[in-house]
Amino acid sequence: MPAIVLVGAQWGDEGKGKATDLLGDRIDYVVKFNGGNNAGHTVVIEQPDGSREKYALHLLPSGILSPGVTPVIGNGVVVDLGVLFEELDGLQARGIDTSALRVSGNAHVIPAYNRVLDKTVERFLGSKKIGTTGRGIGPTYADKMNRTGIRIQDIFDESILRQKVEAALEVKNQILVKLYNRREMSVDEVTSELLQYAERLRPMVADTSLEVSDALDAGKIVLCEAGQATLLDVDHGTYPYVTSSNATAGGACTGAGIPPTRITSVIGIFKAYTTRVGEGPFPTELLDDSGEYLRKTGAEFGVTTGRPRRCGWIDTVIGRYAHRINGITDFVLTKLDVLSGLEQVPVCVAYDVDGVRHDEMPADQSAFHHATPIYEELPGWFEDISACRRYEELPENCRAYVEFVEQRIGARISVIGVGPGRSEVIVRHDLLEG
Ligand code: GDP
Ligand code: IMO
Ligand code: MG
Repeated sequence: MPAIVLVGAQWGDEGKGKATDLLGDRIDYVVKFNGGNNAGHTVVIEQPDGSREKYALHLLPSGILSPGVTPVIGNGVVVDLGVLFEELDGLQARGIDTSALRVSGNAHVIPAYNRVLDKTVERFLGSKKIGTTGRGIGPTYADKMNRTGIRIQDIFDESILRQKVEAALEVKNQILVKLYNRREMSVDEVTSELLQYAERLRPMVADTSLEVSDALDAGKIVLCEAGQATLLDVDHGTYPYVTSSNATAGGACTGAGIPPTRITSVIGIFKAYTTRVGEGPFPTELLDDSGEYLRKTGAEFGVTTGRPRRCGWIDTVIGRYAHRINGITDFVLTKLDVLSGLEQVPVCVAYDVDGVRHDEMPADQSAFHHATPIYEELPGWFEDISACRRYEELPENCRAYVEFVEQRIGARISVIGVGPGRSEVIVRHDLLEG
């Protein structure tokens, strides 16, 4: 049966968590395959009494909120163990059953020195900084590639763990002390922090690739949920202003241990406007009142760091690029409700780069940095659309916006978000029907 991949189509915070949660009661496994607690997913669940329960997830896959789903932290994730157990405790205190969680023994852990290094290096870079979340993500992926990382399975053999930490610290301490004038870290301090979680962690650790493969053989539905997004992907994003993992669909194969031949559809989450957190180019960014309007109306403040998100109009060049890189079969267009009340809604359809029109994402970094958006102005709508549940209920101009964007980005818009709540969606095509 199918493996489905769900990815962000812009610079993150498109509403991936809500989309995963939406499918929650119809899928069997949700596998997080990249990133770590740099992610921040808000899921809002309406209660029978009309109140709203809000959950902020960082490290756990969003499927953890759906009873019956087996949540999996795949080998491609980097795990901050302190955050993992804090998040599990927080959910358990709110009555969520988290006992089904499986964690790959091949996933890497984020040791204390990498959290310190991430923050220290950023401070040192000053105006040249990336604007990372400071969670130790970059240094931990660098160690993985450098073959000096610490994996989940190392935690269960104290002598192996000590050897690996010792080897890592030989280099890390030189960097911390000699380059950055920070204090040295001891093998004991780093290992004891990790070892304290070993007993709680042990029953969750599994050969997750095998388990997922068996589940697929048994006809189960597996959703691979990306953290971050296409333009934050280390290969396909706006390098170096990216995260350090593959957040695109290909990352699901390596990060979950699922072969490409088992993936039958790719869902791209695309916000009705654009946001970005951290540094880096952003052609449709609005530095005026319109940007402030989107930030306020869309509540665009980071779930992880609380930073105000940079805001701009929708960019269909990016949407088309995300479609190509990920093989997106269905888009979920989120936060359409935020655009209600605008006289005109600009849609970026191409870029002008030093007098030359670019219809596709420029491959050259300088061209992208110099790109000026070419807009088509679409007439806006004033109605509150948050109560609409059928496509036909949307105002005519709103439908025209959806169809214009759809035609530009190259795949159908199957679901439309009209509010943060689980039920605040319009389904045009069933995402699981193919
Ligand atoms: P993620 O990182 O991709 O999971 O997205 P975030 O959770 O960081 O950011 C998306 C925000 O938008 C969250 O606060 C969601 O509750 C909210 N959201 C998701 N879909 C919609 C929608 O259709 N309309 C509105 N108004 N808010 C939404
Ligand atoms: P979700 O999953 C938005 C950004 C950071 C920074 C860059 C590198 O919620 O969409 P890192 O700490 O990963 O080394 O930072 O990537 N970033 C995100 N931006 N949403 C995210 O996750 C992000 N995860 C990382 O702001 O610019
Ligand atoms: Mg987010």
